[in-house]
Amino acid sequence: MADERTIQHVAVLGAGTMGNGIAQVCAMAGCEVSLFDAEPDAVERALNAIRANLDRGVERGKVRLETSDLAIRSLRKAPDLADAASRADLVIEAVPERMELKTEIFAELHRLAPAHAILATNTSSLSVTRIGQATGRPERVIGLHFFNPVHIMKLLELVRGRETSGETVDACLAFARRIGKEPIVVSDTPGFASSRLGVVLGLEAMRMVEQGVATPQDIDRAMELGYNHPMGPLRLTDLVGLDVRLGIAEYLHAQLGGEQYRPPELLRRMVAEGRLGKKSGQGFYDWTQEGR
Ligand SMILES: NC(=O)c1ccc[n+]([C@@H]2O[C@H](COP(=O)([O-])OP(=O)(O)OC[C@H]3O[C@@H](n4cnc5c(N)ncnc54)[C@H](O)[C@@H]3O)[C@@H](O)[C@H]2O)c1
Repeated sequence: MADERTIQHVAVLGAGTMGNGIAQVCAMAGCEVSLFDAEPDAVERALNAIRANLDRGVERGKVRLETSDLAIRSLRKAPDLADAASRADLVIEAVPERMELKTEIFAELHRLAPAHAILATNTSSLSVTRIGQATGRPERVIGLHFFNPVHIMKLLELVRGRETSGETVDACLAFARRIGKEPIVVSDTPGFASSRLGVVLGLEAMRMVEQGVATPQDIDRAMELGYNHPMGPLRLTDLVGLDVRLGIAEYLHAQLGGEQYRPPELLRRMVAEGRLGKKSGQGFYDWTQEGR
């Protein structure tokens, strides 16, 4: 069984938004990291992004030069899945959010990774239990749900599948702390802890806009100044993307059934009109203006 002391080699699968951040934080903690992506240039792009990010951190005095050097030395590009998995004590999968893709990869991983290795998924919504059942080692399969941007966000949600063992959870709790994250343990339920609660606030804020309770700016200010949230729920929705939020709300409504998850008409209309938040320039805020 891989425990925190023996997690030396981490394989990260998928070098997109999340994979690149996950690889960076693991390498900064001194793990050897193999990064693999199905798209040939993606790993090189990710390694460049990590180097640039570390350089900025050093310049701003947030990252020590030795830590940056260690991270850069510890990262390598894996030519294929077998190479990435073969020496891993921990595999962290961060490929697109599609169940059939994840189960296919996990079945392969069970064949390719050492018997002691823990297989983790960064899924933000799919069932960790189902992913685990695609392997012959469901007790060593767990969700490690990181948040974007990974090098900044402190939270790591450990998602315990029905068959995940206590040893796997303990090893991942220790590992999370070692890479500078603050872990929580959540059972494998739709939306885990973070989305299930966070989405309700965002959807209710939209219903309040629909009903003319206050402007988006004032609703956000209520939460920022009255409840000490670092960012109001509508501004956060703009950053996440209204289409992404709509997808999560529809999923949670289908899975959990509560009226609080029913997507408001305003959200559907804005998505249909292409007002997706920051990425499209318009959402609850106008992101084309300087200084937003
Ligand atoms: N973006 C977020 O804010 C966020 C936050 C938490 C969790 N997640 C979850 O993380 C996972 C990845 O999301 P992302 O935003 O990084 O996606 P992304 O699209 O930025 O990156 C996915 C990468 O996986 C690669 N890929 C596709 N098929 C592959 C395969 N078979 N083997 C190896 N690599 C493959 C793609 O080429 C791409 O580079 C998803 O499950 C998502 O739900 C995302």
